[in-house]
Amino acid sequence: ALVVRHRMQSSGKWARTVTILKELEDTFGTPIGKLKQIADAMMVEMHAGLASEGGSKLKMLISFVDNLPTGDEKGLFYALDLGGTNFRVLRVLLGGKEGRVVKQESKEVSIPQDLMTGTSQELFDFIATALAEFVATEGEGLHVSSGRQRELGFTFSFPVRQTSIASGNLIKWTKGFSIEDAVEKDVVGELTKAMERMGLDMRVSALVNDTIGTLAGGRYHNQDVIAAVILGTGTNAAYVERANAIPKWQGLLPKSGEMVINMEWGNFRSSHLPLTEYDHALDAESKNPGEQIFEKVISGMYLGEIVRRVLYRMAEEAAFFGDTIPPKLNIPYILRTPEMSAMHHDMSSDLKVVGNKLKDILEITNTSLKMRKVIVEVCDIVATRGARLSAAGIVGILKKLGRDTVRDGDTQKSVIALDGGLFEHYKKFSGCMESTLKELLGEEVAENVVVELSNDGSGIGASLLAASHSQYLEVEEP
Ligand code: GLC
Repeated sequence: ALVVRHRMQSSGKWARTVTILKELEDTFGTPIGKLKQIADAMMVEMHAGLASEGGSKLKMLISFVDNLPTGDEKGLFYALDLGGTNFRVLRVLLGGKEGRVVKQESKEVSIPQDLMTGTSQELFDFIATALAEFVATEGEGLHVSSGRQRELGFTFSFPVRQTSIASGNLIKWTKGFSIEDAVEKDVVGELTKAMERMGLDMRVSALVNDTIGTLAGGRYHNQDVIAAVILGTGTNAAYVERANAIPKWQGLLPKSGEMVINMEWGNFRSSHLPLTEYDHALDAESKNPGEQIFEKVISGMYLGEIVRRVLYRMAEEAAFFGDTIPPKLNIPYILRTPEMSAMHHDMSSDLKVVGNKLKDILEITNTSLKMRKVIVEVCDIVATRGARLSAAGIVGILKKLGRDTVRDGDTQKSVIALDGGLFEHYKKFSGCMESTLKELLGEEVAENVVVELSNDGSGIGASLLAASHSQYLEVEEP
């Protein structure tokens, strides 16, 4: 099966390669008109998702966060961030009024692959153990006042139907996690039980998505932050909505008149999306077929895998790597997005990095410079589509908020807090995302729209929300 169907002359190989490249440029193409249609579709789906439960592929989840940090938050709080390949625990000392984040300590633990597809108890026990170990290192300087229960902001970056600020049921797993017995369960209940098993006395006072944490952390530093976007292993966005623009909301209108919405935009889908044969195959063979389609064309978990699929087809149909298909090229997810990024950013004249990556990861040796150039081109095509689509998503949010036009003399800034490894490290991706945003908005509007890296906003954000929902807060007199 690994032998290329027809032995090809070198000239035939290049002719075929050029044809495939042209075809890629075409099918992965995101002309500005298409992006505008996608932004419009995003806005339409936002309305539908807010109108009724199940009204759209966009779940538009109510976060129960109706007040964002003010800067008055004070005290020692813990945060736990679970949602990608690693999880992190943090201890944050908030200083109140002028103090801000006085001190912060954290520890990162990678999640063993088998725990991502095991049982709920195994996963939560693993987390609670690491958390207990971290709590045990609470030092002289940073410790909870005596007699006070420790409080935790839990960032859980999967779709959750919240039942309060500190409880909610997992709707489904995304990003390669698949732990069936946790679906529909209250994740705070699961964590709390695990903490009890470990003898750890701690109360979860806020359960938030990473987008919500990033929004809170972003707002803490900049009052003009109105939305947060994650571009990492997965992708998603949250923003501040007017409470009376959420017809499906059954509860009391919050005093602030606002409610933060977790869009779960990774599940967005539209006939305007430029989906290719590679995307369809990737989706069909994924753990969650038919779901998270926007995420599967944009986010870090998938970009490298799309490139691998394209290279496989070139090997098969154009004998791109010679008469046989390099066996490693047949292994799903072997080419990770950080490696793709390294190849894409290779500035050496002989594309040395590309050569080394091909050798180290795929055991492909003796590539010509011409071949390596083609590979960089493939990375560019795949990353560009993802970056431009994420820009279109952001424009959809700005449209929904009426911030995609300037009224006379309007200087109100719209700041979007961005986080995630894809955005932070894949510079060609983030650069393309930002330039596409300008292209879509036009110069005048773009002046008022700011994209801001909110590095680790989500950990700090969760601790801020734990603080503002602390059981020890003095209750305001009505
Ligand atoms: C996935 C999750 C979502 C999260 C995003 C970024 O899309 O479903 O909840 O915000 O990844 O981590």
